[in-house]
Formats: sequence, C-alpha cells, structure tokens
Amino acid sequence: KMSPSTIIAILLVLLTCLWSLISASSKSKHKKLPPGPRSLPIIGNLHMLGNLPHRSLQHLAKKYGHIMSIRLGSVPTIVVSSPKAAELFLKTHDTNFASRPKIQASEYISYGTKGMAFSEYGPYWRHVRKLCTLQLFCPAKIEAFAPLRKDELGVLLRKLKNAAEEGGVVDVSEDIGLMNEDITYRMVLGCKRDDQFDLKAIVEETFSLAGAFNISDFVPSLAALDIQGLTKRMKKVSKTIDKLLEKIIDDHEQVAKTTSGKQGKHEDFVDVLLSLMNQPLNSNGEQVHFLDRTNVKAILLDMLTAAFDTSASSIVWSLSELLRHPRVMKKLQKELQTVVGMDRMVEETDLPKLEYLSMVVKESLRLHPVAPLLVPHESIEDITIDGYDIPKKSRIIVNFWSIGRDPNVWSENVEEFYPERFMNSNIDLRGHDFQLIPFGSGRRGCPGLQLGLTTVRLVLAQLVHCFNWELPAGILPQDLDMSEKFGLSMSKAQHLLAKPTYRLL
Ligand code: HEM
Repeated sequence: KMSPSTIIAILLVLLTCLWSLISASSKSKHKKLPPGPRSLPIIGNLHMLGNLPHRSLQHLAKKYGHIMSIRLGSVPTIVVSSPKAAELFLKTHDTNFASRPKIQASEYISYGTKGMAFSEYGPYWRHVRKLCTLQLFCPAKIEAFAPLRKDELGVLLRKLKNAAEEGGVVDVSEDIGLMNEDITYRMVLGCKRDDQFDLKAIVEETFSLAGAFNISDFVPSLAALDIQGLTKRMKKVSKTIDKLLEKIIDDHEQVAKTTSGKQGKHEDFVDVLLSLMNQPLNSNGEQVHFLDRTNVKAILLDMLTAAFDTSASSIVWSLSELLRHPRVMKKLQKELQTVVGMDRMVEETDLPKLEYLSMVVKESLRLHPVAPLLVPHESIEDITIDGYDIPKKSRIIVNFWSIGRDPNVWSENVEEFYPERFMNSNIDLRGHDFQLIPFGSGRRGCPGLQLGLTTVRLVLAQLVHCFNWELPAGILPQDLDMSEKFGLSMSKAQHLLAKPTYRLL
C-alpha cells in the first residue's frame, strides 16, 4: 500500500508534461483570486497539506492571509482563517457557500448524496434538514433519549468502578468510544453493537472511508486508476451496509405491524423516518419531495457517521486536558460537589447549573475541535468578497482550529488550557460568535449541536464526579501525549490511559 507522499511523488513525475499542455490552454478567467502559495502542475498545493492539514494551512495563512487561495489537485480552494472572514462566508454570504462538493465517498457511501450531510444546497436538502431538525433534533426528542444515555453511561460507570476496585489502569478512549457507539446505534438504529452481525466493523469502515484523503476527488483524471484502492473498498462496504440497513428497516416495519411489539418501545430514528416516508416534504410551491426508502437509508447513514466519534473524541480531549491540569480538575470537582453533592449522580437537569463545566468544554473545543476544518463547503455562484473573486464551485475550507489558536483573537496564553477565559463572557458555541465555531455556523452548521453537547457535558461531569483520575505510573501531567490524528473526526493519536478511584459516597 503506497503512502500519499509516494503517490504524490509518482504523480509529479508522470504528469508534469501533461500539465504544461493543459495550463497553456486554460488561463484563469478570474482576475483577482485571494493570495496564496504557488501551485504545482496537476497536484496543485496538495503536497503542502501533510498529515495534519489544519496546522499546515495555519502556517500558510500566516504568510498569505485570512482569505487564502490554494489548489487541491484541480479543485480551486479558498481557506478561511479568521473570525471576520468566517462571518463573511458563513453568515453574510452563507447562501452562496451552503453547498457541499461531490466526492466519491458521498457518491458511494451516502447513496449518491440522497441524505443530508453530503447533499448539494437546494430544495431537497432544505426540506430534509428542516424535517430532521424538527423530528430528530428537537428538545423533546433529545430529552426522550435521556434514559438511553443514562443506561449506557451506567454500563460504563460500573465497568470503571470494577476497574477502580482492582486498582487498574483503563483504556479510557476505548471505553468512552464503545459507550458512545452503543448510544448512537440505539438512538439511530434501535440496536446495539452486538445485536446485528458486524455492525461495528461496517460502521468503522464507512467512517474511515468517509474521512480518507482520496486522490480521485482532487485529480479526477486519475479516478479510474483507483491508486489507493479506496473506490473498491467503498463499493464493497456500500453493498454490505445496504444489506444491513435493509434488514434493520425490515425489522422495524415488522415490529410496527404488531401493536404489541410497539408497546413500550422507544422510538428511534428509523421509526421516525419510516413514519414520514412517502409524505410530501413541503407544500410551499416549490417542487414537492417525497422521502423514499433510499433517502431514509442515506439519512440514517449520515447520522451514524456524524455521531460515531464526534462526542466521544471531544470527551477524551476534555478529560485529557483535565488530567494535564490538576488545578482545573479540582475546581470542576468542587463545582460538582457544591451543585450536585456527593450522595447522588449528576443528572442532565443539573447541566445548566454547572457553569465551570460549560467553560471547560468550550475551552476544550477551542483547542481540540473534532472537525478542525469543519466540513468542506462549495460555492454556488461566482462572487466577490473582500475585493477577491471567488469562482463558483470553489471548495471552502474554514480553518477553525487556526481561529481557535489565533493570538489576535484570544489574546495572551493562546495555547494554554485556561477555562477562566470564558468567565463573564457571552461567547457561546451556537455559531453566532465566529471566534468559537467548533460546530460550524449558518445553514450548514451542525444540527446535532445540542445532542452532542449534552452527551459531552453529561459524560464528562459523571466521569470526574464519580472518580478521581491519575495518569499511569511514570507519566507526569505535562508529559501526557496530546498529538492529533486527522480524520473525519480528529481524535487523540494515542489512547488515553488512566487509573480511576471511586469517590462518591
Ligand atoms: C455537521 C461538529 C455531533 C450531525 C457538522 C459540522 C461540524 C460538526 C463542524 C459541519 C458544519 C459545517 O459544514 O460548517 C460536531 C461536533 C459534535 C457533533 C463538534 C459533537 C461534539 C453531532 C451529532 C450528530 C451530528 C451527535 C447527529 C446525531 C451532523 C450532521 C451534519 C453535521 C447531520 C451535516 C449538516 C448538513 O450538512 O446540513 N457537525 N457535530 N453532529 N453534524 Fe455535527
């Protein structure tokens, strides 16, 4: 299996000649693109991205500015790296940038963009988004899943309590990941990891393919060669996942037919979407859309991919920062002791009262956003912004990771984990404050924000309320490895290992 850098080197040699022919015949029609680095034939600036693109792009933006132009293969790309520029693209001109690029992953593993997350901007996406916001992400629905979260969190806490009694070190990343998977599978599909044959393996493969760096997306002339073997894998997993989703939908339809089967049964996303199938999605004069079985499968798959690792990674990043900063850990435990007490567990209803917890989570998402470059947008029409011409069908990358660590935005100690910076501040996470947009902003902002935040806050609160945590012998707080692994969601490169001690009465 060739590494991306080897592939890029081979491409360079083979295709330079071809490029001179193409570039001679296609001079840019756009007069004033934003500044950016010189690009190479065929691959453009792909070679500059490295393994951690958010860091490389931050470095480049320091030289070329907060609205920068690069080329990823043949794809014109604009990189946005300041709150002011993010506001221009995600608020002022949001309608022009609310589309998504068509990539192989969306074609093969999102049913040809028939879901929500990968769909181009237009009436279909608008209606599906509205429907999901109303039916799946409304406060009542989030609350309805509270017992499910409590249940799965209970499983994790019991496991940790046993480990604490034995005095052992636990793989916190692994345990939180498994808990989040079971919450997600139960909420979206109504089943657990082990209920359906290979569910975990299939979702993992889909997730890793959706986040893979695919040369075919950037140099379409090479797509037929499938150099990385990704297309083959996508085709294979798309068939397997389709079979699985068909079975899950059949099972739900079967249960729905028997009234007794429905009694007491919790409504998951499959139930909700099936109840909406074949109903017109709108009646406001636009083309009428119906949700069919393929749409249902595509939306379910989007939800699984979006929820698979985001909350879990955010919890692990937060707990890691707490382990590196015992002062903050103690202060948070003190807040929990005062607000909740030591004779009962934290409940979701406690969360609004836990102000320091909220600051800790904000600070962790500032430094460790699980989507450091958000999700790529695509421009719909040619437009001029801040004096620059942005061509239509440009890819828009918002480097929130860079915004979160910009000393001009966050004043001093920008790299330091210091939740108190949010004390007496109105900055929230909902996408109105462009210096803090780990969930994105505007039309394409994350619809699962409330759901994700509830899970992150609740699990983190429970973990530090129920347990004291120590790093394995020999690792000092300041030595804890915090390196990043870039992917569909950015997790810690090394699993977090720590030793819990039970502390509730
Ligand atoms: C989109 C972050 C949890 C569903 C996004 C985007 C970000 C994000 C940055 C892209 C915004 C943009 O394009 O500008 C997060 C974070 C989470 C989280 C940090 C948790 C800590 C969830 C959960 C779900 C979800 C739990 C659903 C169960 C989605 C969907 C989209 C999305 C469907 C695509 C929206 C669209 O294209 O219209 N999320 N997310 N997210 N998220 Fe989340």
